[in-house]
Amino acid sequence: MATLLWGYLRIPFLAASGLGMVLSSGLFYYQNELIYPRNIPPNARTDVPRPSQLGLDAEELSLPTPDGETLSAFLIKPGNASKAKNVTLLMFHGNAGNIGHRLPIAKILANEMYCNVLMLQYRGYGLSTGNPNEKGIAIDSQTGLDYIRSRDDLKKTKIVVYGQSLGGAVSIGLAVKNKDQGDIAGLILENTFLSIKKMIPSVIPAAKYLTPLCHQVWPSEEMLPKLTNTPILFLSGLQDEIVPPSHMKKLFDICRSEPKIWKEFPYGDHNNTVAEAGYFHNIQDFLDRYIAS
Ligand SMILES: *[C@@H]1O[C@H](CO)[C@@H](O)[C@H](O)[C@H]1NC(C)=O
Ligand SMILES: *[C@@H]1O[C@H](CO)[C@@H](O)[C@H](O)[C@H]1NC(C)=O
Ligand SMILES: *[C@@H]1O[C@H](CO)[C@@H](O)[C@H](O)[C@H]1NC(C)=O
Repeated sequence: MATLLWGYLRIPFLAASGLGMVLSSGLFYYQNELIYPRNIPPNARTDVPRPSQLGLDAEELSLPTPDGETLSAFLIKPGNASKAKNVTLLMFHGNAGNIGHRLPIAKILANEMYCNVLMLQYRGYGLSTGNPNEKGIAIDSQTGLDYIRSRDDLKKTKIVVYGQSLGGAVSIGLAVKNKDQGDIAGLILENTFLSIKKMIPSVIPAAKYLTPLCHQVWPSEEMLPKLTNTPILFLSGLQDEIVPPSHMKKLFDICRSEPKIWKEFPYGDHNNTVAEAGYFHNIQDFLDRYIAS
């Protein structure tokens, strides 16, 4: 696997000391800069690796949002059309870097599991316009889902929403919002959190009493129990040093949707769980058992 690209995934969730300082000085406006570090690694706004660099069959897309932003996205096609699975993965990234850094993941999903993969970068990330915030990113995720629904070749497939870290919260919110349409066939959640507020006490204990100032909520703990009848795969790195693994465990416990499947990686940390043995096997197994059949 492209070790160099995995390196880009080693990026912070929150600049911990920075958030403490900023919250205590009351400049909560700057939270967004800390929660959405879209300039990490340097040049992440301009240097977006392209699917062709990895030899992938893909479309490079610009998706307009209803509120006037333009999202840059890739649609990666199954490596061998005659083996194509009836599955489209809608992939939501963590809070740093861009979609190009996650192409090695999409490559495995498309070339070894024969899924369609739609990966978009949120507003303010990579080559997308605008600035990130909770409300805007929710619009972006809906734009991705609606795009799949609009395409004849994709709307007849089973849609599985796959989110890592912040992307897990994005995925849960989207699935809840669209549950009455019934066309989200499954969710895959990796190393995601209960809420941003609940991250603060563990990441910066001293900032605990300042959590009310935190205006980016991402309330997965409240949202997830609203789902029923959606298969959900939980992928948890037990060495996660950014999001305490107890967050994933709690999410699994409060999840009322069935079937729910728990897979843990004893050596997986926040950045490298995706590179742990068994990670993709578990995804394949989940798709075969609960989605494609
Ligand atoms: C994950 O990325 C962060 C930020 O670059 C880094 O501080 C941390 O050490 C990385 N974790 C591991 C275990 O490599
Ligand atoms: C694609 O899959 C088909 C059916 O399994 C196989 O016959 C064919 O050789 C494959 N093509 C490539 C390029 O791997
Ligand atoms: C693919 O999945 C869709 C949505 O569940 C279903 O309607 C369709 O029949 C499936 N197609 C095939 C070829 O299995």
